[in-house]
Amino acid sequence: MRGLKDKVVLVTGGASGIGKATALRFAEEGAKVVIADFADGLEVVNAMKAKNVEALYVQVNVTDTDSVAAMAAKAIETFGRIDVLVNNAGITKDSMMKKMTKETWDAVIAVNLTGVFNCTAAVLPQMLQQQSGVVLTASSVVGLYGNMGQANYAATKWGVIGMTKSWAKEMAKNGLRFNCVAPGFIGTDMVRKIPEQVLKEKILVKVPAGRLGEPEEVAALYAFLASDDAKFINGAVISVDGACTI
Ligand code: CAA
Repeated sequence: MRGLKDKVVLVTGGASGIGKATALRFAEEGAKVVIADFADGLEVVNAMKAKNVEALYVQVNVTDTDSVAAMAAKAIETFGRIDVLVNNAGITKDSMMKKMTKETWDAVIAVNLTGVFNCTAAVLPQMLQQQSGVVLTASSVVGLYGNMGQANYAATKWGVIGMTKSWAKEMAKNGLRFNCVAPGFIGTDMVRKIPEQVLKEKILVKVPAGRLGEPEEVAALYAFLASDDAKFINGAVISVDGACTI
């Protein structure tokens, strides 16, 4: 894709799942990649380095502003700039509303919503100084349409859309772009936690393709949205869901 070579791309939650596939896709496109994750991302980074990709792993807790500031500083110290932030880190703590606790509500808001705010705020001074940058954030079909057992998660995935649209309006004039990707049900550990009967009988039956998506199919959209081919796409939400919501 056009314009990704030598770009510095920071992927939160990049050690596994969609984040890992996204980091690998950007590496294939010739980008320099920072994997920022609470979990260990050294193995992924070392595999990239073995293929001559310039890559860095930073341990981060996206809910902690000091940790996030250190993440941005390390990326800038290592690569001199940040061109793309992929706000991919996210968690689920599913339960029906009547059983949802304040604790599980707060935990999901802290990572999926405040974490996106923290990471975006941390890279913005650099992007504004560059007068260029792209921030891509993981929404979800659950944010667009709701889902049983996911009031907390849905609130965050809808919330990031509002943040993204606001940022696009505020900072398009500074050469910055902000977009959301809304994955459907993708074959990752997060989806594998869904009870088998629910996944098979309630969710997969609604996907016309009859299968889960592949993490790489989401990664391809992130790469496109970060590329120069998408330079007039700003404030958008694009689904990659195999038509499960129509
Ligand atoms: N869609 C449709 N029906 C669902 C459902 C869903 N997502 N989740 C649960 N149900 C149904 C169950 O099939 C069950 O139906 P019946 O009464 O007809 O059998 C009923 O709701 C009650 O469900 P449980 O018996 O499982 O209730 P529980 O209280 O034991 O558990 C739950 C509730 C924790 C929400 C559990 O059902 C569950 O984990 N459901 C899946 C939730 C889900 O879809 N999570 C998506 C995770 S992936 C993700 O979030 C990534 C993304 O962005 C798409």
